[in-house]
Amino acid sequence: MNKPTLRVGIVGAGFSARFHYEAIRKVYSVDVDVKGVYALDREQAAGYAAERGIRAYDSLEALLDDVDVVHCCVLVAGHEQVAVAALERGKFAIVEKPLTGYCGDGSDSFHGDRFPKEDALRHGMASVERMLEAEAKSAGRILYAENWVYAPSIQKEREIIEKTGAQILWMHGEESHSGSHNPTYAYWKYSGGGVMLGKGCHPLSAALYLKRVEGRARNGQPIRPKTVSARTHAITRMDGFRDEGHIRRDYYDIDDFSMMHVTFEDGTLATVFASDIVIGGIHNWLEVCANNHRTFCNINPNNALQVYNPLDANFRDVYTVEKIGTKQGWTAMPADEDWTTGYPQEIEAFYRTIAFGEPLESDSRLAADSISTIYSAYVSAERGGVEMPVRTF
Ligand SMILES: NC(=O)c1ccc[n+]([C@@H]2O[C@H](COP(=O)([O-])OP(=O)(O)OC[C@H]3O[C@@H](n4cnc5c(N)ncnc54)[C@H](O)[C@@H]3O)[C@@H](O)[C@H]2O)c1
Repeated sequence: MNKPTLRVGIVGAGFSARFHYEAIRKVYSVDVDVKGVYALDREQAAGYAAERGIRAYDSLEALLDDVDVVHCCVLVAGHEQVAVAALERGKFAIVEKPLTGYCGDGSDSFHGDRFPKEDALRHGMASVERMLEAEAKSAGRILYAENWVYAPSIQKEREIIEKTGAQILWMHGEESHSGSHNPTYAYWKYSGGGVMLGKGCHPLSAALYLKRVEGRARNGQPIRPKTVSARTHAITRMDGFRDEGHIRRDYYDIDDFSMMHVTFEDGTLATVFASDIVIGGIHNWLEVCANNHRTFCNINPNNALQVYNPLDANFRDVYTVEKIGTKQGWTAMPADEDWTTGYPQEIEAFYRTIAFGEPLESDSRLAADSISTIYSAYVSAERGGVEMPVRTF
């Protein structure tokens, strides 16, 4: 049987656009014809296009006219605009995490520490509603690019929950490292929040996903989040932070430490940490404590490959692991970091949904519940951690 061909465009030409392209090249169920790229930074888009032998488009509209699917790899502030434009033309939109966000009021004086977090919740929810409405009217769909859902360790846990009828009692997890490389990340106005949004969305979405799986397996009804209590801190912005050069510290108005404690509608729990103050390489894990089993989903690091290197310079040309400070000594080095992170599995699954209508594990409802939980968590943190209700979609 001939494989179907899908025409594809990339919006954004930075970090995530690069790993999306790598994952597209590994899709095997569908022939993917990458038509080109569009990005606000035209020079960056031209370089990205030239490296890959694809076209750099002059406008989003021109790109959308030529494709069936668009990969939305732009900053959070642009997610809604790109996704809605695609959906309005009946195209599929693969949207990077977080689904959308509140990026301030546009004024010069806007500062993440000083505005009422109810504003972020209200505007964030309004953005989610507009995206869901556009999706409901469209022949296309939103495919929520939350790679944690497709990480092999999380998918193995899905199988265990489905086949054993497990009840998850508590999950705890974390995404942390020593600080984002992206200069714009330092500003709420580009990122829509701090580490609780940018990194917290990963373990949170995986936890929300697994409770959905549990309910779906039991009676077809996903189990949704009900309340959240949270704390946020800006450790590297404290006057007393003693900088030894290992941790990024130039954040303008965002949190660099966060903790969300979620209760689900069945009374069970998830506790999620996200921070930019952890050295020693990226630290991404989720532990599941169920009534009939217990699982460590180690996304990164994991111990499939352990390498000892006596001299840093030996590994000058060897990529080891994301955000590690040194290549010397023992390193838990993923043999294929993209694979353990779930990127290729995610993009393959999306194309199977688009081409063959296969069920979508990471959809707009999961994305919406995740945003709703996080912005409710920001309100909670502003109030010293009081429990806030979470709206679900
Ligand atoms: N899943 C993951 O592991 C992961 C990792 C990093 C980033 N991300 C997500 O990817 C998205 C982009 O982050 P990044 O690190 O690639 O950023 P980046 O700064 O490296 O690249 C952003 C690109 O988008 C373009 N752009 C920005 N706004 C635009 C708009 N409105 N229309 C068209 N182009 C626009 C810029 O010109 C640039 O080319 C963010 O939502 C981020 O949260 C996900």
